[in-house]
Amino acid sequence: MNCHIPKNTLSTRPETTITTIPGDKSLSHRAVILGSLAEGRSTFSGFLTAEDCLNSLKVFKSLGIEATQIGTDLSVHGKGLSGLRAPKTTLDVGNSGTGIRLITGVLAAQAFDTQITGDASIQKRPMKRIITPLSLMGAQITGQSLPGKTDIYPMLSIQGGQLNAITYTLPVASAQVKSAILLASLFSKDVTTVIEPEATRDHTERMLQGYGADIRREGTSIMCSGRKPLIAPQGRTIQIPADISSAAFFIVLGLITPHQGLHFTHVGINPTRDALLNVLKAMGANINIHSIAGEDFEPHATISVYPSEMTNIDLDPTVIPFLIDEIPILAVAAMFAKGTLRVTGAKELRVKESDRIAAIARIAAAIGVTLNETDDGFSLTGRPQGANFTLDSHGDHRIAMSGIVLAYAAEMSATVIDCACIQTSFPNFFEILTGLGVECTLES
Ligand code: S3P
Repeated sequence: MNCHIPKNTLSTRPETTITTIPGDKSLSHRAVILGSLAEGRSTFSGFLTAEDCLNSLKVFKSLGIEATQIGTDLSVHGKGLSGLRAPKTTLDVGNSGTGIRLITGVLAAQAFDTQITGDASIQKRPMKRIITPLSLMGAQITGQSLPGKTDIYPMLSIQGGQLNAITYTLPVASAQVKSAILLASLFSKDVTTVIEPEATRDHTERMLQGYGADIRREGTSIMCSGRKPLIAPQGRTIQIPADISSAAFFIVLGLITPHQGLHFTHVGINPTRDALLNVLKAMGANINIHSIAGEDFEPHATISVYPSEMTNIDLDPTVIPFLIDEIPILAVAAMFAKGTLRVTGAKELRVKESDRIAAIARIAAAIGVTLNETDDGFSLTGRPQGANFTLDSHGDHRIAMSGIVLAYAAEMSATVIDCACIQTSFPNFFEILTGLGVECTLES
């Protein structure tokens, strides 16, 4: 499915409050996983009903879990740490790297064997990063090789069994790898320690704590004791906040187009996820974060944004893990700012749903923005030029949405090829977009 954006002529638009940014993707995956492994029933509101998280739910249903999902309300009947059952078929995570990596951590410890795979993009995502530490714990996992590549790729075959605790220093800043190890550690004797040289999103740790796990952080080390039951929080619904990574597309749209103020309610502002806001503020963005609340594991707030004149900066590489998914839309913001945005230390972008450094370079080339690509980042300078462009998202949802926001803000007509992928994370993206007066048509 392609999206055609005709030339939109920008004019002042009224202040708008958006209450429908969907639930956080990282948290929705973890809700399914921890809800399934806990004892008792967990109830969540704000569950993300996008393909990625629905696939995680399907996987746990195949593993014998009963769950009821009505719209964004999810109720999971947890069966405890030893309650999963052998599935009848190969498990399929669709497009989700988080799904496959976290769930493999759980499957490695089961008393049965499984196979897990996903779509064509997942079959090109590197898995050695989880296979190495899980094998050190005693897991038996094999995967596929790809011509000319040295990593291991799905489909993964997992021979479930007993695991041992380990102490492991993460070689890449990855919350997925950290979480795969922490989930596996729930099943092993003794205390597993994960050392995180660079901090990454901490949703797994927070949620595990909420479920009564014996987990604590000391400096860069996270310690988790195994074989302690997880207990579903009783008598309350856990609220999953709106996904800041999804809000990001409209936050940037609000900064670079003349909307008199866009307000986004209940957006997750976990300090390991909010770096985009800090970076945009450092660039001069008029962003106000207010109505902060969040008793349920994760803080959330209303974020208000106003049209802003911005100046680019050198991005501090230590914040990269805190805005890794927002870099494509940050690059779009940077195309409307003065000066040069320099991004270094972001090599992980090359192994996301697509090679996002190459994708950002393609976007820049399509609209006449100067971009120098490096192995682990890029620098870009200049304003969009020209009247139209075509961009192939290569099936990457965040690239597709970045291209659409760019076309609107640059008053260019554009065709963004391959937009069905937006369903993996943001099912109501087009509804919100057209609600803001952006013209676009979808063609299959
Ligand atoms: C995620 C971690 C990040 C992020 C992904 C979601 C998670 O991946 O890019 O979209 O939920 O743990 P890495 O762990 O590979 O950095």
